[in-house]
Amino acid sequence: MPLRPALGDVSPYRPQKPIRQLQEELGLDRIVKLASNEGAFGPLPAAVAAFEATAGELNRYPDGGGTMLREALAERHGVALEQVVLGNGADELIRFCAHAVLDPGERAAFPWPSFPSYVAAVTVANAEAVRVPLLEGLQPDIEALAASGAKLLYLANPNNPTGQVADFTALVGDGRLVVLDEAYAEFADPEPDGIGLIRAGAPNLAVLRTFSKVYGLAALRIGYAVASPDIADALDRVRPIFNANQPAQEAALASLHEQHAVGGRIEHVRGAREQIRTALTDAGLDARPSQANFVYAEVPGGDGPALARALLQEGVAIRALDGFGAPQAVRVTVGTDEENGAFAQALARVAGREGG
Ligand SMILES: Cc1ncc(COP(=O)(O)O)c(C=O)c1O
Repeated sequence: MPLRPALGDVSPYRPQKPIRQLQEELGLDRIVKLASNEGAFGPLPAAVAAFEATAGELNRYPDGGGTMLREALAERHGVALEQVVLGNGADELIRFCAHAVLDPGERAAFPWPSFPSYVAAVTVANAEAVRVPLLEGLQPDIEALAASGAKLLYLANPNNPTGQVADFTALVGDGRLVVLDEAYAEFADPEPDGIGLIRAGAPNLAVLRTFSKVYGLAALRIGYAVASPDIADALDRVRPIFNANQPAQEAALASLHEQHAVGGRIEHVRGAREQIRTALTDAGLDARPSQANFVYAEVPGGDGPALARALLQEGVAIRALDGFGAPQAVRVTVGTDEENGAFAQALARVAGREGG
């Protein structure tokens, strides 16, 4: 076979069945989807208008420089235009970081459980993925990460799936690339400020942000990195020129002007995650405080997938975390008030059956 042996170690993404197909199979009118950490609300009205306005020009290639959006992001974050790199979602930027830094056989490390994309990005680069177990209290092991011999560190802040924030400054400034993945930063209180370290001149640092969560643009695939200048230059070298499509660029730009509405969404998430945590605790799970738009909870008996299956039968999709390194736990994404209520009721039904 002409394929690279490293691909044997990559687990292909196994998508969930489309919701409509699942509904039919389970005989349900509706499935509430709280499984993928998407924003609970759709795109902002200004983003929809900007998106629609691009429809007549879909015959044109996008602006490969992403100039207008990058200018707006550079201004917002107080960095130079050259320090902003667009991605087809933050996910693509995770790949760029691996491609820019890792030679075959080198190491990249990250706390574990964490976002499985790090494993895939590193393995596809023919490098070694080092999973550094979280400590008691779900905190990252800073000393072990520093001592891992990795040339690249991926640090999700808040972490997916545990929802905790951490202080990673001790790891910044060494000869390795530190990637602070702030996909959920807006939901944390206070918001992590990795970009502040970049403004202060930290070398070898990239901060990832996305429009998929609070801005509700997950389907369009648009995220960005703010990085120290030489790292941004390297990410740009491995970037396919048209990676960020024009409707995505326009919708993201329009969203940036809607900060009032975004603030309301953040307030919603901060309140609702407490309600979800209470529902989980009431049902006997060990639910942890969260700084993100989801809640992590350990299941009595230790079988996360079984609870996820039982809830699906009740019409609610949540995430079992076996693929994240936590088979004993589940993750519930914050939805609308109505969706969160449906989840709480379904959970109470499942817990009632198991208790009785
Ligand atoms: C920690 C983390 N980073 C990055 C991403 C990817 O976001 P995007 O939709 O921008 O690719 C996710 C998505 O769930 C995530 O959980």
